[in-house]
Amino acid sequence: MRFLSQCAGLAILSLSAGPPSLMAQQSGEEIFQQKCVACHTLNADRLVGPGLAGVMTRRDRAWVKRFIMRPDLVLGSEDSIAAGLLEEYLVPMPNFGITDAEAEALIAFLGGGGGGAAAGETAAAPDVVEPATEEQILLGQDLFQGKIRFTNGGPTCNSCHDVIHDAVIGGGVLAAELTTVFSRLGGPGVRAIIGSPPFPVMQRAYLNKALTDEEVAALVGFLQQADAEQALHQPRDYGIKLFVAGVAGTVILLGLYSLVWRRRTTGSVNQSIYDRQIKST
Ligand code: HEC
Ligand code: HEC
Repeated sequence: MRFLSQCAGLAILSLSAGPPSLMAQQSGEEIFQQKCVACHTLNADRLVGPGLAGVMTRRDRAWVKRFIMRPDLVLGSEDSIAAGLLEEYLVPMPNFGITDAEAEALIAFLGGGGGGAAAGETAAAPDVVEPATEEQILLGQDLFQGKIRFTNGGPTCNSCHDVIHDAVIGGGVLAAELTTVFSRLGGPGVRAIIGSPPFPVMQRAYLNKALTDEEVAALVGFLQQADAEQALHQPRDYGIKLFVAGVAGTVILLGLYSLVWRRRTTGSVNQSIYDRQIKST
């Protein structure tokens, strides 16, 4: 009952809200779509963070509210639930400056449908990322470093990020180094972050300059390849180089030894012949 009336209230609010940019009057679902969907699904699937289906039954309401409003404070405290989550999900959930009213709206949204109703409406990110084609990876590489411009004019990724890759020369250091982001956040997580960035700096950079689906897919493919490359290819590469250097070194040393040795044997053979000749005369 309480949820229904809250829903009705929210529906009226959002109907009368006019432009959806009026933050205070956004519905929980709108806020979720804008600020949370990059990292959370409404079902049980893990993205960057845990799937939020059933979160209102597995956690205390006050805890959820505190966590949504100040994840940094809760994570920084001795809170054992937060510590356990961080250990499992590795990335700390950023603080989005969620207000009290927004947190209430989000909680109503999360608690109500049990994920069901809400999940139906959200075209939740499919949890499998199709493997990228060779062309997509190359396109992603060119987009990442600005050899090819984004359709809607957004800034190149390497103006803020760096990635270690054979074909990409140094990028920015303003934001995280992205070489291993794929193993850290997983395909769906990376795709969600690139598609609708939850980070204010990145959000502002792509405001009204959203990437196209093809661009997102290409960048995800490129980041996956960069990750795989540094995990497998580079150490093996060093291994081969070391091995080759070792073999070459051994061959050179053996060559030197045998030269020195032959001269010494030759010397001693000559000497014995000389000695014999001396004796026979
Ligand atoms: C950048 C990714 C990211 C964004 C965006 C994000 N979260 Fe999170 N969230 C996480 C991670 C990661 C965790 C797990 C705890 C941790 O590692 O900090 C988490 C945990 C949670 C939890 C606790 C879940 C549980 O199982 O106890 C709730 C609730 C939550 N987030 C709600 C939200 C809401 C609401 C928003 C939008 C305002 C949001 N999150 C935006 C990454 C994110
Ligand atoms: C204006 C600067 C800026 C630009 C341009 C930018 N980002 Fe970001 N990005 C950030 C910031 C800031 C963060 C937040 C985390 C951090 O501090 O690194 C971030 C976070 C990320 C993350 C999550 C990193 C992690 O370790 O959790 C990914 C993935 C990402 N960006 C990909 C991209 C891609 C792909 C592009 C190009 C389409 C791009 N970014 C362009 C600033 C930027």
